[in-house]
Amino acid sequence: MPDDTRLRYGGDYNPEQWPPQVWREDVDLMRRARVTLVTVGVFAWSRLEPRPGRYTFDWLDEVLDLLHAADIRVALATPTAGPPPWFSLAHPDALPVTADGVRLHHGSRDTYCAAAPAYRRAARRITTALADRYAHHPALALWHVHNEYGTTCHCPHTEAAFRRWLADRHGDLDTLNDAWVTSFWSQHYTDWAQIGTPRATQYLHNPGHLLDFRRFWSDTLLTAYTEQRDLLRTANPDVPVTTNYVLGDWVPVDHGRWSREVDLVAVDHYPSAVDRDAETQAALAADTARGWSRHGTDGRTGDWLLMETAPNLIYTDGRMHTKEPGRMLRQSVAHVARGSRGALFFQWRAPRGGAERFHSALVGHAGADSRVYREAVRLGHVLDRLAEVRAPVAATVAVTADPASGWALRHPGMPSTRLDHHAEVAAAHGALWRAGITCDVVVAGDRLDGYRLLVVPALYLVDDRVSAWVRDHVHGGGYAVVTYLSGVADEHARVRLGGYPGALRDVLGIRVEEFHPLAVDERVPLTGGGTGTVWSETVHLTGATAVTAYTTGVLHGRPAVTRHRYGAGTAWYVSTRLDDDTYRRLLTEAARTAGVTPVCPGTPDGVEAVRRSGPDGSWLFLLNHTDRPQTVPAAGTDLLTGVTATGAVDLPAGGVAVLREPDTPQ
Ligand code: GAL
Repeated sequence: MPDDTRLRYGGDYNPEQWPPQVWREDVDLMRRARVTLVTVGVFAWSRLEPRPGRYTFDWLDEVLDLLHAADIRVALATPTAGPPPWFSLAHPDALPVTADGVRLHHGSRDTYCAAAPAYRRAARRITTALADRYAHHPALALWHVHNEYGTTCHCPHTEAAFRRWLADRHGDLDTLNDAWVTSFWSQHYTDWAQIGTPRATQYLHNPGHLLDFRRFWSDTLLTAYTEQRDLLRTANPDVPVTTNYVLGDWVPVDHGRWSREVDLVAVDHYPSAVDRDAETQAALAADTARGWSRHGTDGRTGDWLLMETAPNLIYTDGRMHTKEPGRMLRQSVAHVARGSRGALFFQWRAPRGGAERFHSALVGHAGADSRVYREAVRLGHVLDRLAEVRAPVAATVAVTADPASGWALRHPGMPSTRLDHHAEVAAAHGALWRAGITCDVVVAGDRLDGYRLLVVPALYLVDDRVSAWVRDHVHGGGYAVVTYLSGVADEHARVRLGGYPGALRDVLGIRVEEFHPLAVDERVPLTGGGTGTVWSETVHLTGATAVTAYTTGVLHGRPAVTRHRYGAGTAWYVSTRLDDDTYRRLLTEAARTAGVTPVCPGTPDGVEAVRRSGPDGSWLFLLNHTDRPQTVPAAGTDLLTGVTATGAVDLPAGGVAVLREPDTPQ
């Protein structure tokens, strides 16, 4: 029987790009690197079904058998992100149309409309064929549906489906007209047939229209996923099913909502920074994945899986940057620290051709005699030693993130073009990261038992339920930090009247009268030495007290950060984007008041500490992201070296330690 207690280690494997003798070499190299799981078949549709209804499974049979014989398990993908040329030629109506009305053509990947009946039929057919053949294959550990759902379309199929979705959501046109405030600019609809997708138009779109289209499209993609999932589940209910989420605020997918539909949350994460921000981005991705995994569940541990990341490269600023030796390992262990059941990469072997021939790989064009492969072997050995860590990640702080607020804030008619929900979430999360405090990124409205402090960054859309959720948390003795723009609009992006932030004025004890967005390079000084950027506003105290105030301009002497005792708890309001240090200090103070301390007090700056603990014991992950040796006050036995530290752990530059803490049984 395959050993499934091992962490998942491996990545996207594309045997269809290579002759069989390379498969044998691959499997041999995988064994040497202790690879435990590979994702096969993601873009293999044209090799699996070269003509409509004619399948060529022989090569895949052989590959799966080879992998099985080497005790390597398989995440078998449905190849529906890459329809073959014959499909596009036979079904031109299933090719996607852009917002400008341009019909795209075959020639890349993901060139289909997810609402087109022909595409969905073809996707179901290839999924059924794969399920019939492999649902009981002994190598199969996981179904990997599709790849990174995220494309959009404006074709007539989409338009028809959008109208049906709208009718379902709003019931009648009066309700829709009211929700979208169509009295503005003569947009009142008197027939469903008048409503199209938000295509290119003369000037600004209606915000409600745009927002509903994003929601509709997320639901449409979700149905395309669940359709496949159900076929796979029926074929063998014991094999878990997932799909890999692509992260980024441009993605038209509400992943939190999707998470109840997958058996395991799986994310792809590609940092867009070369400096230490890459590590904070990775931590944010991981904490978000864990929050999704826990979303709407009572018992889930928060386990998730890093399905893709680049082994040796970071792509940003128009070029590839090499990760320094050891960084791949450190980043991988950081993901495991935050709950990933392993580390998978894009990709196993770099292809000779194709659009991504220079993308990162564990076996690059240089072959196995390379630094990267040697580091891959070392990583395999390290991950092997971490398998005993099964305890949940310890977090008593929750940060909310909300894709719909992100979509709504991108509307060009906002008071500033610099409003970015994702950046606000990242800023709050980064401040906690620097403070050494672990948080879960949660979906607004999730259960808050166990969380002492709730951080609400730029949660622009707040419906009555979420408003009550924040209020009840604080009233019942919880703590909250809420930042600017939160609660300004309702779920349809209609502004709540009577002073901002309409949905949260009472719990915050403030009333905001006017917004004063800041210029790109403008920094406003605050009492206490901090500064604000991006945004400022006229805050009136209606029960709260000022913590800091603006010191210049029209806002001179007016509150910038406030604090309000509400029921048995306390809520802070932050009316600007605080500089990094001030933000860290504020969240450290709010956490301290809430009874939350850093994971490992005394940890030097640049060293990340994450604890996983539960009834089976406690493990402390220490990751030195600096280029100097560091000493951390901690105790336990390092799973990587076997060395026991009693009061201080020495980490080499860029090094990691995973301590089984005292009293944890072996
Ligand atoms: C991912 C995608 C892979 C590959 C990779 C390149 O987002 O899922 O198929 O394109 O990026 O870095």
